[in-house]
Amino acid sequence: MENFTFYAPTYFDFGKGAEQHVGELVRRFGGKKVLFHYGGGSIVKSGLYDTVKKCLEAEGIAYVELGGVKPNPRSGLVYEGIELCRREGVDFILAVGGGSVIDSSKAIAAGCCYDGDFWDFYSGKAKIQQAVPVGTILTIAAAGSEGSTNSVITNEETGYKKGAGSDVLRPKFSILNPEFTCSLPPYQTAAGATDIMIHICERYFSNTEEVEITDRLCEAVLKTMIHETPRVIEDPQNYDARANIMWAGMLAHNNVCGVGRVQDWASHHIEHELSALYDVTHGAGLAVIAPAWMRYVLKINPHKLVQFALRVWDIEPRENEEKTALKGIEAFERFLKDIGMPLTFAEIGADEKDAELMTSKLLNTKDTEGNYVQLRAEDVMKIYHYAATGEM
Ligand code: NZQ
Ligand code: ZN
Repeated sequence: MENFTFYAPTYFDFGKGAEQHVGELVRRFGGKKVLFHYGGGSIVKSGLYDTVKKCLEAEGIAYVELGGVKPNPRSGLVYEGIELCRREGVDFILAVGGGSVIDSSKAIAAGCCYDGDFWDFYSGKAKIQQAVPVGTILTIAAAGSEGSTNSVITNEETGYKKGAGSDVLRPKFSILNPEFTCSLPPYQTAAGATDIMIHICERYFSNTEEVEITDRLCEAVLKTMIHETPRVIEDPQNYDARANIMWAGMLAHNNVCGVGRVQDWASHHIEHELSALYDVTHGAGLAVIAPAWMRYVLKINPHKLVQFALRVWDIEPRENEEKTALKGIEAFERFLKDIGMPLTFAEIGADEKDAELMTSKLLNTKDTEGNYVQLRAEDVMKIYHYAATGEM
């Protein structure tokens, strides 16, 4: 195991009715003038929009609103948010919605405390040192942004989708009421589940040795997702299955399962190019890319894929490592298909003719991608090729 530091001070308020505590929590964490940031219509439909306003007003907390965050959140609204916060003297940002709303809030939070262009953090030109405090009410189990250090934004002008991270971006509090996730359509539910599983895979597929504790934690989250996801696809109102998935989503990405090991992240970064170009749902893009990545790296470095097959998918050992690992990948693909996820470029409207462009954007500041296997441009092209054609 490698040395690590782990600082995850988010206060979680989990369960039915937890949203009623939002005013109290904003006050506890020092908010006097709030930016209430949200997406499209889902929080209006669920009643959460009205509840939040009532709770803030009951605590005498002033607020301004900024809605309209789109999935794969854009830089334009971040600039608007920064300007609004400065003009209004905002000292706390409340994100109500999914990962996109939370990521947009984090970008505004960091941008408000920086003299330059907030995009400097995402292009790698500057490091985030300070941010306005953020609190969240999560409505979809997926990105894990409610407990993570990260934010991912798409720059509308350049078409780049990039991430930035810092401990100061971890939310001060996150309210998780699984009831709100019951209104998610099956496709969003399944895409969220896929994202959760791939957050674990990015950590699990590591060459760091002697990491039994985090390996076992990763396997527990994956097995939970394998058990619970079909249950919520079949019965969207299943509170307990929703609750287990919601907490799994947090555990998958606050890094409790990833400390002390070198992580991979190739599937995520390869996917971000797809969602930047075609605006596909992140989790659906991952369903296309991650199994293709697994099939490609299997030939080069099978050891962790064998463990994945044996311990996560309960595959009986075959005559050699490659065959055992392949059975695990096939089981994962079957699972994704059964929950309604796409597995090919065609299903998400992507075209192989863009593979070169996506690869060059992916590797614009580096020579290789990922760590489990370090992929060069030609390797990434082969992964896109497999996703497009089903041929290695
Ligand atoms: O805008 P509204 O109307 O709220 O609709 C949203 C949106 O259309 C809808 N939705 C959310 N909660 C709902 C609901 N619909 C019905 N009932 C509810 N309870 O779902 C749609 C998707 O929302 P979004 O916030 O985009 O989903 P998600 O949480 O999957 O976030 C995806 C974004 O997070 C990034 C992704 O790249 C993508 O941009 N990621 C962020 C990470 C992080 N910050 O740590 C890590 C991840 O790997 C990921 O890259
Ligand atoms: Zn993700």
